[in-house]
Amino acid sequence: RNIFYEETVDSTQKIAQKLAYEGAEEGTIVLAEEQIGGRGRMDRSWHSPKYKGIWMSVLLRPNIPIMQAPQLTLLTAVAVVQGIEEVTGIQAQIKWPNDVLINGKKVTGILTELQADSDRIHSLIIGIGINVNQHIEDYPEELQNTATSLFIEKKEDWNRAVIIQAILLKMEKLYTIYLENGFYPIKLLWESYALTIGTRITASTLTGKIVGKALGITDDGVLLVEDEQGTTHRIYSADISV
Ligand code: BTN
Repeated sequence: RNIFYEETVDSTQKIAQKLAYEGAEEGTIVLAEEQIGGRGRMDRSWHSPKYKGIWMSVLLRPNIPIMQAPQLTLLTAVAVVQGIEEVTGIQAQIKWPNDVLINGKKVTGILTELQADSDRIHSLIIGIGINVNQHIEDYPEELQNTATSLFIEKKEDWNRAVIIQAILLKMEKLYTIYLENGFYPIKLLWESYALTIGTRITASTLTGKIVGKALGITDDGVLLVEDEQGTTHRIYSADISV
């Protein structure tokens, strides 16, 4: 397997994209100690301080239509929850679609980007950012109420390599299940870790806000929200607040 390790990068996503374009094989991993231009979802930046976290991109080449790409993001969130639990004993939860939270604060963000030929995925780049050894004062003030780290939760420094290994092993296991049996078994696991299913949420999309009860996810990974009038909305991309 190909593992690319760098001290400082702009974004591991960019490097993985370039490698993907050059034909790198499935399972290629890009890791960095620090990102200067770490990217989050919705054009946000991702705070990636040196030696404090896991800043990693994983290249997959599943033979699936674009529509199903969100399934792999959900699968990754499950792998992160399981990996964190195995190493630290902390039970994290998932907020749709891809935030991993501990005690309601964000410990991991996942960003999936893809390259496709017509409808088929050519490469899928899953970026995983895990806050590991930050102390609360390492965060900019505006993140201190919403972000956490494994250190903050357990007052213990963690070996990042051990966590990376645990998560990649979980991911490989889940991906094998996914390729053999489809998304359904992954969906069940995802739902068992999900925070927002069955509760009242506000989904802020690019076109407006939908307030209602989160019913669950579809087989494609789309979030179903039932509004006060009883209409069910299919949410593809949004920020969720409770
Ligand atoms: C989010 O907005 O929640 C997603 C954050 C994703 C951050 C990771 S860190 C490794 C990879 N490289 C990036 O620039 N972003 C992702």
